[in-house]
Parts: sequence; C-alpha cells; structure tokens
Amino acid sequence: MKLSKRDFLRMSAAGLVCMPNALSAQSDMRAVTARVADIQLLPDDYGKTQIWGFDGIAPGPEIRVTQGARVQRRIVNELPDATSTHWHGIRIDNAMDGVAGLTQDAIRPGDSFDSDFVVPDAGTYWYHAHNRSFEQVARGLHGALIVEEPEPIDIDREEVLILDDWRIDPETAQIADTFGAMHDLSHAGRLGNYITTNGVYNLAKNVKRHERLRLRLINASNARIFQLALEGLDGWIVAMDGMPLATPQPVKGPFLLSSAQRVDLIVDVTAEVGSAGHIVQVSRDESFSQVAFEVTDDSTRARRGTPLPLPPNAHAMPNLASARDIALLMEGGAMGGMRGAMMGGRMSSMRDMMETGHFWAFNGAVGGMDGPALAELSRGETVRLKITNDTSFPHAMHLHGMHFHEIAPDGSLGALRDTTLLDRGEVRDIAFVADNPGKWLLHCHMLSHAASGMMAWVNVA
Ligand code: C2O
Ligand code: CU
Repeated sequence: MKLSKRDFLRMSAAGLVCMPNALSAQSDMRAVTARVADIQLLPDDYGKTQIWGFDGIAPGPEIRVTQGARVQRRIVNELPDATSTHWHGIRIDNAMDGVAGLTQDAIRPGDSFDSDFVVPDAGTYWYHAHNRSFEQVARGLHGALIVEEPEPIDIDREEVLILDDWRIDPETAQIADTFGAMHDLSHAGRLGNYITTNGVYNLAKNVKRHERLRLRLINASNARIFQLALEGLDGWIVAMDGMPLATPQPVKGPFLLSSAQRVDLIVDVTAEVGSAGHIVQVSRDESFSQVAFEVTDDSTRARRGTPLPLPPNAHAMPNLASARDIALLMEGGAMGGMRGAMMGGRMSSMRDMMETGHFWAFNGAVGGMDGPALAELSRGETVRLKITNDTSFPHAMHLHGMHFHEIAPDGSLGALRDTTLLDRGEVRDIAFVADNPGKWLLHCHMLSHAASGMMAWVNVA
C-alpha cells in the first residue's frame, strides 16, 4: 500500500511513524477465505447449521494488531455469491473501505481482493461483508478487528464478546432463508430467535473474584438493539465505537447497544466465589444471562478504584461556528408516513414500494449508492448533520470513514461514535470534520433497512 502524505502526517502526529511495520514495504498478505461451512451452532442435540463464515467460522478469525500497524488480508471468495469486506469504524483509505458498488467491485466467486491498510486508532472494531449484507452478515460473515494501545492498560485480562442474533428454523437447524422478506424490510429489520455470544448460546467464562477485566462488546446482529446490564460486576464504560471516553462512565443501569455499535467496559468481578457475575440482557418481561462469569477463586489482588481513561486517539476537533449544515430526514416504513417516500417521485404508490422492496426514504427519495452524493464536502470542513427520524422504528445510523461527535442537547460535543441510535421520532445532530477523502456511505445498520432505501453517501474532495 502506498502511504499517503496525509497518513504520514496523521501517524507522525500520533507518534507512530517510528513503528517499522507501518512504513515497511514488506508484504505479509495473509489469506482469509469466505466460505460455506457446517458448524455446531445450536445445542448438541440439534444437527449442524450451514453458515457463511470467514475461514468457515462465525464469528470469523479475530484480527489483532497494535495501533499504527499495517493490516494485510487477501479476501478469498469461495462463496456461491459475490462479496466484499468492510472494516467497520476504521479511518481507512477509501479504496480499502470494502463497499461493493461504491469503493470497489464485488469480489466474484473464485476471485480475491487484497485489503491493505494502516490502523490509525486503537480500539474495538469489526469487519463484515458489505455486499447484500442483510443476507451475508446474517449468514455469519463478520469478525472482530482489535487494535491494541501501544502501552498495556491496567487489567488482568480481556474478553472480546461478539453478540449475534440468528434466525433459525428449529425443524431443520438451518438459517431461515427469508432474506429480504417484506416484513423485515418495512418493520424492525431481520430479528432472530437464537442469540449467541462468540457463536455460543449462554457463554460462560471462569474468573476470579476482584479480577479486573476489559470486555469488548460488539453487536454483529442485523437489527437487534441489545439492552444490557451488569450483575455481580462493577463496571465502567471506557470507550464507545472504539473511541475512548475522556472520563470512564460508571455503569449504573441498563445501556443500549445497537447493531454495529461497540462498547469497551472495564469491570471488576464482585460476585462471591461459587456464584457468577453476568452481562444480562434486559427485556420487557424478564432478563436473561447473555454472558456468565463464574467465580472460581479469589484473586490475590485487592480491588482497584475507578479505572484511568484509555489514551485518546488523535482526532480533529469540529469547528461548529463555521460548520456546514446538512439535514437528513428519514421517512417511510410500516406504521409511519410513507408520504415522503412516495413524494420523492421515484415511488408512486404503496404497491410500487412492495414490488421494488423499497420502503424507506432519505430526504424524500429512496436512497442508495447510485444516485448523487448527499453532499459534496471540502476536505477539512466541519459538517453538522441534523438527522430526523420521522418513522415508527429506531435506526442505527452509521457513517463510514470518519467518526463523528453526537451533539448534546445543550450544544456541547458528545462522545465520538461511528454509529448512532435514533429512537422513533428522535432528532439528533452529529458533527464531524470531513478530513478523509473519498466516497463514504451513511446508512442505517439495521441491514434490511439499508437494503430498502436507508442509504446515502457523501463525497470528500
Ligand atoms: Cu458496518 Cu456500511 O457498515
Ligand atoms: Cu433503520
């Protein structure tokens, strides 16, 4: 990969330029093969389930590097369908963003694509298919991309926890072949009936009392918004979508994790020996254990206080005073105003929407990659994007290529994110510096919604 001047400046600003692997011309291209495989996904008394997975597993192999490192992966496509691989949340060269139809052609069956990029930020990221993603991600094409801080942080160990939600036909033990079902497209997206962590139902880990763990949670599901709480664990949120919080936030009650969002927690195990701490999934009527931490022993270490914040990733500060204002109105879907979607001119009736499978609109028209950019941005300018969710469903809006700040109601800059969850009827302003050149998607990460109109892109030049 050619290192652009911009990458070089950014890396030297972050003090990474001396890291030999960032600049070396040496190639270390390793293959990752997207292929069909049969795995024991359901409990043992069921048969195997056919999935599509990177290297035939789901989640795919963990990719773990240090901040500033170069990642080289040859994506080999042995699937029966064309595919591509997107590196979610990485501030990447546009050519490596992996969006079939916008930044590259889909990789045909039997072909491959060389992904080659430098990771500027430490944090918890992930990779997933980005062609027909409502089907390919649901079949299992995703994995963790972990970028470690240059200096180790004060924990005893860490766990990467990938939450997923499968739709399984219990008769056949196979993934339900209902991709693109009208109801999913027009309602809450493809929700599943079998929830796993790291591909396992009711995942359990052994821990010691008073151990300090870093938990990296990734929501890889198509559409499920997890509502999570801690029991027998004392925790702080230290990063969201990879980006460290300036001040660790104690976890006092349930918190939400939408599709594609990540949260890094530091937790101290407070449950007694012989019992267990839990990450609990809180639902309306009852709560379930998502992950159990079984306390087998007492740690020799005493409890530590509030953790230190993680070292920040170098990031340009938006200048709100001179920001360019852009509005994004989200409409459509079931039980909502189809009006805007139909008035865009490309849709004339409800029947057309059913026939084309387009149920959502951005600014009055069905969105996608083919139309013009939502905005042509000049490199370095601050954008303030007002997103209005005028639908009856929540949506998880994701911007590629650049992290953004959520703007708090009082006008201050909130946390850096790459995916922001808007409840129905909610309005949110986000701000970012358009400092990464190229074509970047902005879409709902409820993947059926993205496939049926909730997709736009911006061009930074
Ligand atoms: Cu994680 Cu456009 O996606
Ligand atoms: Cu959505």
